[in-house]
Amino acid sequence: EKTRQMKILCIGAGYVGGPTMAVIASQCPDIKVTVVDINPERIARWNSERLPIYEPGLDEVVRSARGRNLFFSTDIEAGIRESDMIFVSVNTPTKMFGTGAGMAADLQYWEKTARQIRECSNTPKIIVEKSTLPVKTAQAMKRIFDAGNHKTRFTVLSNPEFLAEGTAVNDLKHPDRVLIGSDTSPAGIRARESLVDIYARWVDRDRILTTNIWSSELSKLVANAFLAQRISSVNAISALCEKTDADIAEVTRAVGMDSRLGSKFLNASVGFGGSCFKKDILNLVYLCRYYGLNEVADYWEGVIRINEYQKERFVVNMLGNMFHTLSGKRICLLGFAFKAHTGDTRESPGIYIAKRLMEERAKLVVTDPEALENARFELQGVEGDVCYTEDPYAATDGCDAVALMTEWPQYAALDFDRIFRSMAQPAFIFDGRNILDHAKLYTIGFNVFPIGKPA
Ligand code: NAD
Ligand code: UGA
Repeated sequence: EKTRQMKILCIGAGYVGGPTMAVIASQCPDIKVTVVDINPERIARWNSERLPIYEPGLDEVVRSARGRNLFFSTDIEAGIRESDMIFVSVNTPTKMFGTGAGMAADLQYWEKTARQIRECSNTPKIIVEKSTLPVKTAQAMKRIFDAGNHKTRFTVLSNPEFLAEGTAVNDLKHPDRVLIGSDTSPAGIRARESLVDIYARWVDRDRILTTNIWSSELSKLVANAFLAQRISSVNAISALCEKTDADIAEVTRAVGMDSRLGSKFLNASVGFGGSCFKKDILNLVYLCRYYGLNEVADYWEGVIRINEYQKERFVVNMLGNMFHTLSGKRICLLGFAFKAHTGDTRESPGIYIAKRLMEERAKLVVTDPEALENARFELQGVEGDVCYTEDPYAATDGCDAVALMTEWPQYAALDFDRIFRSMAQPAFIFDGRNILDHAKLYTIGFNVFPIGKPA
């Protein structure tokens, strides 16, 4: 007799759910993988030729499995009924109301999903927390699942995702580690082993860590907090470099060659963005305060404070160097995505910079190869003069200043002689990512302002 096909469901077809399930489906052709979402447009785009998110290599992975063992659907209830294992990767934004407003995670989407799973299930389910959640969420989940006189058995696992946008497919295919948290009941261990077996199809078993469920939930918050802390540390020092004629690139090179520290993730910038760093640190800070650990909370809050400071410093620096007025000046934001190789603009430093420059009554031209649709969305309703164009030469034409926001490699390769000739004089460049050839720009005639380097 043929063994029954395993069926996986993922609730939430976003930046995490979509790519993660596409990779699982492509690695495990014998498992049926369905991704569902409440947003019908999103699902329609996952089923189309133009996917809802831009990720290098994602089109190929989706195309290889879609319609074979990878399905995108809006029928959440049917998906729940037929599946053995349910990943939940709905969004967990910062709560904007009531207790914990601006700090705590807003768990309403999560709880709704949990209740829906309970209502629609009549066979045992393994529930996998894929979203980033506060520690102890699994406990609340378990109580919701077990409430009432349901006979169905639910086992909750924590399996946080560490992929970074722009490299999601590669990160999923070759993860540094996979983390799975469970309780130690026989059912917990069995559930954990079935998830380990899935990842083990393409990930070395010694890279698959199993821990208790609270360690797993907390490790995700801590990993993001440490990564963001590195950037805030470098950015804080970049301010000191500008005062002392030290060069942040030379400093981080010297520091990063210490093998205990490592050289990655030490690029000074206009500030970190992305949907998660700020939200997850706030979440960590809130947890610490909840448990009365105010010193610990203050320590991590500093990471966010420095990031806000770095963004504001960038604007103040532009203003000061452009004769203390930006009113009526045309400024090109070169890039708007929160990092290169993505169209995502959530929490992008470009948003803050754009708003501040418009407050100063500058006229903005926003350009980005992938993120213009999202840029328009982020800035809709903001009062001021802003237009959008994909062509960087058209965008910089007639500008007084260029502010580089995103480290797209094609921006380093632009013809800056040509750009200089088309700009108003004196022409300014503020390199928020330190990717341009500053000496060359200076020779061309630009006033050049990198981050953390002698001007
Ligand atoms: P996202 O906003 O891109 O996707 C979430 C999706 O869930 C949306 O499409 C939304 O419509 C859907 N959704 C919300 N409520 C639903 C419900 N009740 N039923 C069905 N669908 C529902 O978010 P994301 O970036 O994929 O992040 C998801 C989680 O993963 C977050 O907790 C985040 O912290 C975490 N995470 C994100 C990243 C990243 O790089 N973006 C990386 C690691 C972890
Ligand atoms: C980050 C983590 O790297 C992932 O491991 C994690 O899974 C994810 O958050 C998440 O939980 O959402 P992501 O935000 O996609 O991934 O991208 P990163 O490469 O971490 O960049 C975040 C921000 O920091 C970007 O704005 C980037 O430009 C900035 N950054 C990064 C710097 O300013 N300097 C650096 O050296 C590195």
